[in-house]
Amino acid sequence: MSVAETYAAPPVSEAALTADGEQCQLPIRKGTLGPDVIDITSLYSKTNHFTFDPGFTSTASCESKITFIDGDEGVLLYRGYPIDELAETGKFLESAYLLLNGELPTQDQFDDFSTRIAYHTMVHEQMSQFYKGFRRDAHPMAVMVGVVGALSAFYHDSTDIRDPEQREMASIRMIAKMPTIAAMAHKYSIGQPFVYPQNHLDYSANFLNMCFAVPCEPYKVDPVLSRAMDRIFILHADHEQNASTSTVRLAGSSGANPFACISAGIACLWGPAHGGANEAALTMLQQIGTVERIPEFIARAKDKNDPFRLMGFGHRVYKNYDPRAKIMQKTCHEVLEAVGHGDDPTLKVALELEHIALNDDYFIEKKLYPNIDFYSGITLRALGFPTEMFTVLFAIARTVGWIAQWKEMIEDPYQRIGRPRQLYTGAKQRSYVPISERV
Ligand code: ACO
Repeated sequence: MSVAETYAAPPVSEAALTADGEQCQLPIRKGTLGPDVIDITSLYSKTNHFTFDPGFTSTASCESKITFIDGDEGVLLYRGYPIDELAETGKFLESAYLLLNGELPTQDQFDDFSTRIAYHTMVHEQMSQFYKGFRRDAHPMAVMVGVVGALSAFYHDSTDIRDPEQREMASIRMIAKMPTIAAMAHKYSIGQPFVYPQNHLDYSANFLNMCFAVPCEPYKVDPVLSRAMDRIFILHADHEQNASTSTVRLAGSSGANPFACISAGIACLWGPAHGGANEAALTMLQQIGTVERIPEFIARAKDKNDPFRLMGFGHRVYKNYDPRAKIMQKTCHEVLEAVGHGDDPTLKVALELEHIALNDDYFIEKKLYPNIDFYSGITLRALGFPTEMFTVLFAIARTVGWIAQWKEMIEDPYQRIGRPRQLYTGAKQRSYVPISERV
């Protein structure tokens, strides 16, 4: 069977392409939802041409059954379930199970999964020595990239990607240990002792406890805050073939071990155009400061000669309200009320800015709506996190999506190493000139 015949999406018609006078027929494949795709896997052999699509704006890099986005309608589905339904009532580990296994868990499956996660939250004690090697002021994402990559040096019994049991064990370990590693990065940066995981707490409460408890006094996690944390994790768990997920898939396509692949994903997520935008949105709202100054910033955002953009507005895929932003706005209100900052001036600026922008022709015409980052910075700050930790929290949640996508790729029997081609515009072949003869 050829690779082209192995896809689940069947060919439904054909596209005709003429290249340099030669015509070739290419199958058009139909997915369950979303645009059909023109299958160009045979293009090179048929026409001796590559396609050119920097930034993958028109390219589906893989077939996947995990997450679906309709950017025009503002829809996000995990395995077919709308994000708002999952986030409204479900738990993060339920969504994690769903993304990994394709179906929502029964109560027994959920209990078993949660227990397995809980019993893998501790990291090898020697790993804590690693942290001392970092400067106190190291960015926690730098620490995450290093420590997560180093997991492969500690858990040799779960690095053989051809063994399904080892793949499963690596998945459980990463989801379980990511909050511990992240909380340790936070504690190290503020000079406080590490707090060990507590198995009687659920995933998000345990994380908040590891971040904010200190050994010298009792600490009780506020259930409103742990519920908010859980919801934030659900909202960030997967987003189909974004930059960091594509990085994980590409790294994994060479057969690299899963810990190394997730570390590569964390490195990609660190970039300000990806995971760092919530910090930028919060900084902007603080810079605006008061409702009276909003028109000045709106005018700047609309000015072609000013590079300023409204941070937390617009999205490459969503040309409608980001469905995650709505839930984040609600969560933001809940958290601010719970911590007694219901009249937070930054929230006032955010709400008014959103209102003005949504009624302004510039933003309406360009289909610029608030994205998830618009309210997440305010929420995370109210939860008690410093801005450097914002992307780290994103990484904890996205680990589930990265692993689900990595597993899907590895379990595909026809998976091949990812190897894009290029349009070469450099020098043509020329002969080496000895240094003494160069002018
Ligand atoms: N404020 C003002 N104008 C904007 C904004 C904005 N936030 N976003 C886009 N525009 C304008 C552009 O100037 C451009 O105008 P033009 O057509 O007159 O030249 C038009 O809208 C299209 O913008 P592009 O940059 O081409 O759109 P693209 O889809 O490539 O960019 C992006 C999407 C990068 C998210 C952009 O909207 C942006 O920079 N937003 C602010 C940063 C941000 O919030 N990023 C977080 C994204 S969500 C996430 O990563 C989890």
